[in-house]
Amino acid sequence: MPLHTRLKNLCLLLAAALALAPGARAAAPDLTGTWRIDLPKPWGVTLHSYMILRQEGPFLTGSVLVNDADEIGVQEAHMEGEEAVFHVDWGWKFRVRRDGANLHVVISYGGPDADVATAYPVPASATTPPAAPAIPELRTLPDNGLLRTPPMGWNSWNHFAEKVDDRVVRDAADAMVASGMAAAGYQYINIDDTWEGGRDAAGNILTNAKFPDMKALSAYVHAKGLKLGIYSSPGFVTCGGYEGSLGHEAQDAATYAACGIDYLKYDWCSAGRIYKIADLRAVYQKMGDALERCGRPIAYSLCEYGMGDVWTWAPKVSGNLWRTTGDIQDNWESMTKIGFDQGRLATFAGPGHWNDPDMLEIGNGGMNGAEYRTHFSLWCLLAAPLMAGNDLRSMSDDTRAILTNREVIAVDQDPLGREAQRAWAQDGIEVWTRPLAAGGIAIGIFNRNDQQRTASFSWAESVDASAPRHVRDLWNHTDLAPGSSFNGAVPAHGVVMLEAK
Ligand code: GLA
Repeated sequence: MPLHTRLKNLCLLLAAALALAPGARAAAPDLTGTWRIDLPKPWGVTLHSYMILRQEGPFLTGSVLVNDADEIGVQEAHMEGEEAVFHVDWGWKFRVRRDGANLHVVISYGGPDADVATAYPVPASATTPPAAPAIPELRTLPDNGLLRTPPMGWNSWNHFAEKVDDRVVRDAADAMVASGMAAAGYQYINIDDTWEGGRDAAGNILTNAKFPDMKALSAYVHAKGLKLGIYSSPGFVTCGGYEGSLGHEAQDAATYAACGIDYLKYDWCSAGRIYKIADLRAVYQKMGDALERCGRPIAYSLCEYGMGDVWTWAPKVSGNLWRTTGDIQDNWESMTKIGFDQGRLATFAGPGHWNDPDMLEIGNGGMNGAEYRTHFSLWCLLAAPLMAGNDLRSMSDDTRAILTNREVIAVDQDPLGREAQRAWAQDGIEVWTRPLAAGGIAIGIFNRNDQQRTASFSWAESVDASAPRHVRDLWNHTDLAPGSSFNGAVPAHGVVMLEAK
């Protein structure tokens, strides 16, 4: 866990400890201890989380070790009669009460889903993670030659999370072709977390009941002209609490190759409980090396949220892309906080190795059309991976039109591979520019204000370009009158995206 997260958790613990406890009773039951929660899933996997609680009178402090991967501080703890109520990050809410020697727990996740579980007392040592194995000497691995332009595809996580299964993946492949996305350049169908079962006696990774036959699934996806991606973690469990690759790196890479996998997203998760931040490069090198040797070209996507300046070393571990931030959420604040902060990393991107500001939320319902066009335009200017994160089976015409706008996609896929930077900003209007292989520039004129604005600037002072002879509007698909300046309306939270040469 990064230092700033630890500090934040510490502050939250202190805040929880100092909080007055409304409705507290003098004789609140003692919840102090380490408690294991088992959550059996219908697909044959049982997830484990731990609550590490300390109660002093009505005050409850502690943390939850979510899925054995992430330790998160207890927040806003208070007693409601016999019940302790508290939150952890991600909008999760716990209601806990004594049930004999055990605890009765109800966990809700900010939506309609809730889990009811029993928490069992366990010794504090039960939460001790496996010991860190030896890490390899650092060296520079060869470029795997893949992803000369940013990957385009679909990933299950943003919309489906644990509700992904074989059917959903086949449907996504069908819809990618039927919707015109494949023809527009989308290629990867990527299964994120929750596909994993345990391991067999020989240590081979197994799928759970949601994925009865991974080889057959990859054959189906390949028959559509598409590629199949998968997900794992260098830790003992993934972020979702499923089997990780710790100690099985080469074996797992061989299994992926045998199953016809074309892309691996490798997510830090519980590795943070075993290794130090200083070990990041060596740990990712281990899997990079295994992929190089597995006999099949597999694109390598590093997911460690931008820790340890990953952009400076990811290409040396054969990484094709690397997450630069924590998880995106389907709202304007999250998307813009990530997207408009990427310019500082622009120089690290280029053919074969890309900054990854996380997957797309377009079509998931949390933003309006103008905001989703901003999302797509910004990601294309940033030469970001274009991983649709919506339900491709049921997308609206507007969503499809955004995801398949070929003129905007051409900016993302421009072979020069140069990422945009902010050229000019004033009063919530930002102009981002990106040089293109054919000699022109792509320009995004963004309005971060809540009202429509007129953007007005001269080419020379704002985008460092002399008056272009040709200006093309990439959303309206029209040519604009060339001149020495731009003057036009930009909708609230919207964008005008141009190509000028
Ligand atoms: C992390 C990643 C997400 C997703 C989940 C799956 O949070 O950042 O993109 O892969 O794990 O558990």
